[in-house]
Amino acid sequence: MKFLFIGDIVGKSGRKAVKTHLENNEYDFIIANVENSAAGFGVTERVYNELKNMGIHAMTAGNHTWDKKETENLIHNWEGFIRPANLGSRVLGKGYNIFNAAGRKICVINLLGRVFMNLSNCPFECFDNIYESLDKDCFIIVDFHGEATSEKIAFGNYVKNRAHVVTGTHTHVQTNDLKLMENTLYLTDAGMCGAYNSILGMEVESIIDKFITNMPHRFKVETKGDILFNGFSFTLSDDNIISDYKLINEVYENIEL
Ligand SMILES: [Fe+2]
Ligand SMILES: [Fe+2]
Repeated sequence: MKFLFIGDIVGKSGRKAVKTHLENNEYDFIIANVENSAAGFGVTERVYNELKNMGIHAMTAGNHTWDKKETENLIHNWEGFIRPANLGSRVLGKGYNIFNAAGRKICVINLLGRVFMNLSNCPFECFDNIYESLDKDCFIIVDFHGEATSEKIAFGNYVKNRAHVVTGTHTHVQTNDLKLMENTLYLTDAGMCGAYNSILGMEVESIIDKFITNMPHRFKVETKGDILFNGFSFTLSDDNIISDYKLINEVYENIEL
């Protein structure tokens, strides 16, 4: 069974990179972080359906989950959408979800880091609680949405041999440390899909000006030039052995699709 995890999809350029990569879709199960997929901020119904139609089964989020107002009203309809689990119990939506694919149970969990991020509950304890509640035959994939590499590596070590796959998201810069931590496939950050010449997928000028002046700015997704696809893939055997894992870091021409 072949899996693909796609790093933060940023706006139209990111969606185009995903569509290009999936033209010859050879995967049985696809997970993507979609927190920036609608014009760089959050997700909309239209974008959710567009990504679903591309073949993405599970969509995780992060600190940008609620950027679009319609998310609050529509989140219950988005079957494959998972917002961070370590939020209060009154928060809408679900923090993990169990999918059935190729005769297996796959649990996808989304967690927020707490270092250089807004307030949330402890992601380590949150994982423990979810893990205790799951059937033992679940294949568990965690998207740990965080800023600090140390926190993500600590989390990987904490859950190794319990979660089967742990990947970081949020920084939009792919790290080069995809490896097995004993039986757990681990990556600090999956990177992003978006404009290749950009600052984390956004237009360069306004971000530079923000750093210099700290004045309020409206950031826009960069839509010109080449587009980047970041993620990783792996194969899972019937007896839960992970093999053939590899980083994907492709640059495509920005052709009209
Ligand atoms: Fe992001
Ligand atoms: Fe984020």
